[in-house]
Amino acid sequence: MAQVIDGKQVAACVTAGVSEATVALKLQTHVTPGLAVVIVGNDPASHAYVKAKSKMAKQCGFNSFQHSLPRETTQDQLEELVARLNADSTVHGILVQLPLPKHLDAEPVISAISPAKDVDGLHIVNAGKIATGDLSTGLVSCTPAGAMLLVKRIHGKDLSGLNATVIGRSNLFGKPMALLLLAANATVTVAHSKTKNLASVCRDADILVVAVGRPQMVKADWVKRGATVIDVGINRVLVSDSDSGKSRLVGDICYDEIAQVAGAITPVPGGVGPMTIAMLMANTVIAAYRSVGEVEPKF
Ligand code: GUN
Repeated sequence: MAQVIDGKQVAACVTAGVSEATVALKLQTHVTPGLAVVIVGNDPASHAYVKAKSKMAKQCGFNSFQHSLPRETTQDQLEELVARLNADSTVHGILVQLPLPKHLDAEPVISAISPAKDVDGLHIVNAGKIATGDLSTGLVSCTPAGAMLLVKRIHGKDLSGLNATVIGRSNLFGKPMALLLLAANATVTVAHSKTKNLASVCRDADILVVAVGRPQMVKADWVKRGATVIDVGINRVLVSDSDSGKSRLVGDICYDEIAQVAGAITPVPGGVGPMTIAMLMANTVIAAYRSVGEVEPKF
């Protein structure tokens, strides 16, 4: 049976470190880290994520500023809010929850965020720093940073000699994840919807990271015996043997059968999910330290 990687526990270690760093910063400089979260429209799943982020920010001792904008918000209004938050010295981190309603273009909104406050790590400056191997002066995108911490729990910091395959090539996850694995010396393959013989590409992987957004797509016979499998998917599916319309969360892998083959595996829920929020808190406290020229904590 695979070792189950407890994302909740690792996330709790990270947020405990964030809280300590927050106390120290307040003592030394009287600065309280401030996180502004912007959400546009009424998507219930997005509102649930934003609520969780605001709650955790308060638990870490931050000032939490939530801006809930109506669905009809224009591109200009959204970019004006971002400009105000950039100029606000009590705000150290800005996150615009994605996806935005269809009439809004996310790319110029993300570009409008000051890179130093881009705690999502999505600005082209931060994405470029990861791409050039500079992991220390920018802000690293939260979900790949969190998934990478889980990989390091199993394999340590140096992935020399290990094959890592990432399925998915999004800017939000797949690309930065592949770059972080590469920076840790793994031999990296990025697979996607146009990849031929996906199962055999996956079978080469010592570390298999799956972010496809399709419930239980990856099967046990795609997985090398003893591999580490990181499941980034969060899919709500109906419980099949019930007429009640009840649903449950599943990842992108067939968890039960892969747990028989893998060496280590992340569950859904309780794997990568909690890490995303923890790394957002880590990025925010790092941004606050940098804003006053203090040496930042490491996570
Ligand atoms: N929507 C789903 N995941 C994320 C994320 O990590 N950041 C933002 N901004 N929106 C998201």
